[in-house]
Amino acid sequence: MNTVQGKIGDRALRAGMVGTGMIFDETYRPFFERARAEGLHGRRFGLVEVPLAAVASRTGKRAEAYRRAAGGRIGDFQSFSGETAVERLLDTGVDFVCVATPDDRHYAVARKVLEAGKHLLVEKPSVLALHELDELERLAREKGVLAKVVYHKLLDPDHKKLRTLVADGQLRHANNGYCSLLEPKQVSGSQFAEWIRGRNPGTYVAVHYIKLIDFTFGGRLKTVSCTGQRGIVGESGGTTWDSTQLRLIYDRDDGREAAFDIHTSWVTPDNFPGYVEQEVQFRFDNGVWNAHSRRRGVECTIEGKTPVEIKISMNNHYNGTFLEPWGERSQRGYGIEAIERFVREVATVEFGGPSAGRADRLREARALAYDDISAERQAVAAVHAMEAILARHAAGEPDGVVRVNHDGKGLVLFLPGAAKPEVLYEGKVWREPA
Ligand SMILES: NC(=O)c1ccc[n+]([C@@H]2O[C@H](COP(=O)([O-])OP(=O)(O)OC[C@H]3O[C@@H](n4cnc5c(N)ncnc54)[C@H](O)[C@@H]3O)[C@@H](O)[C@H]2O)c1
Repeated sequence: MNTVQGKIGDRALRAGMVGTGMIFDETYRPFFERARAEGLHGRRFGLVEVPLAAVASRTGKRAEAYRRAAGGRIGDFQSFSGETAVERLLDTGVDFVCVATPDDRHYAVARKVLEAGKHLLVEKPSVLALHELDELERLAREKGVLAKVVYHKLLDPDHKKLRTLVADGQLRHANNGYCSLLEPKQVSGSQFAEWIRGRNPGTYVAVHYIKLIDFTFGGRLKTVSCTGQRGIVGESGGTTWDSTQLRLIYDRDDGREAAFDIHTSWVTPDNFPGYVEQEVQFRFDNGVWNAHSRRRGVECTIEGKTPVEIKISMNNHYNGTFLEPWGERSQRGYGIEAIERFVREVATVEFGGPSAGRADRLREARALAYDDISAERQAVAAVHAMEAILARHAAGEPDGVVRVNHDGKGLVLFLPGAAKPEVLYEGKVWREPA
């Protein structure tokens, strides 16, 4: 399937990248640079080259700055900007495309990628509504390609341990819990200034915990409610949210319920000691799991630098720059591992055996619930519901509640005082147990 020229050879996966902002810099760029230096090796697919072949963004400015700064760390790549940037990127013959545009612009780009028959990796949440997810799933199947989403917190060693203890029956039956994730004001104030209007920190970051809870504890999502505050990023009566509080209620097979509260903000003062403050507590029948990003172990003060230029508490597991004991400079962490895992899945599908077995390998990769978009239905349902509740709140109808699979409909919004509930999504979110 490759149209690879030059010395790359025929065992190559040519990458396209749409969006070259903050997350590109933190996770995709280090992955592509390491892949350029070392290739990607696995027993099933051998050595595969993964050149960054083309990027597309709104203005192309950051891509050009990167090209200048990167020197030999990255190969030559084409850069497209403007209205038709994605189409032109797809015309270059890339094999897979990573989409890291703002969350309300994932769908339009992801759809084009799949329509062009390219494997897709999209930032979380893949889309904001279930009918969009249906369409991406349909296209991925029709075109015979992977459609995957990045939830890198599932690869955080602490969250892997949590899931391991649950899977092994050490921690039994999560009954309730809370998660809080606080982003600094610079994220809403300058980093995302271009696309912040009408957006909320719930879809941006609560979604990490929605997926963590869904993936780790299972169960059927039953009810979604949400509220939030405005007045710092935008008008107090407007559509741009400073902070949100989301509640999810699940049904379990044994007839018992579970409930989780997820609080997020992107207006935490910039001089807060940690960059992204994260805290969770999950309560089980037989235990409690507490995790706190500032108690993960490191606190460092440097005169004149902390806590603004460098943070006092740091997450060296996500994406750290290191001087390795053997002298090499590296950038590694679970944020980068998540990208590499996807490329390994694509490499296994394309090069992991005879072409007659490709369909089986595709099925095997699609069965991975941590990243396949087909396993993201409940996470997207929660986002879809939250977006609708907040939109109604901003329009003067607060305190909505969404019921999942209610009366034969997938998502149904109830508003206080409204004569009739509103159906947000007709199809089933999850299938009834057999
Ligand atoms: N996994 C994580 O923890 C994590 C962290 C940060 C961001 N993200 C996600 O990554 C995505 C991007 O976030 P970011 O922080 O990099 O944002 P950003 O604002 O820094 O960068 C966005 C990029 O998208 C480009 N872009 C915008 N609209 C486009 C369009 N229509 N076509 C092509 N390019 C377009 C911009 O030019 C820019 O390069 C979001 O979905 C966000 O939720 C994930």
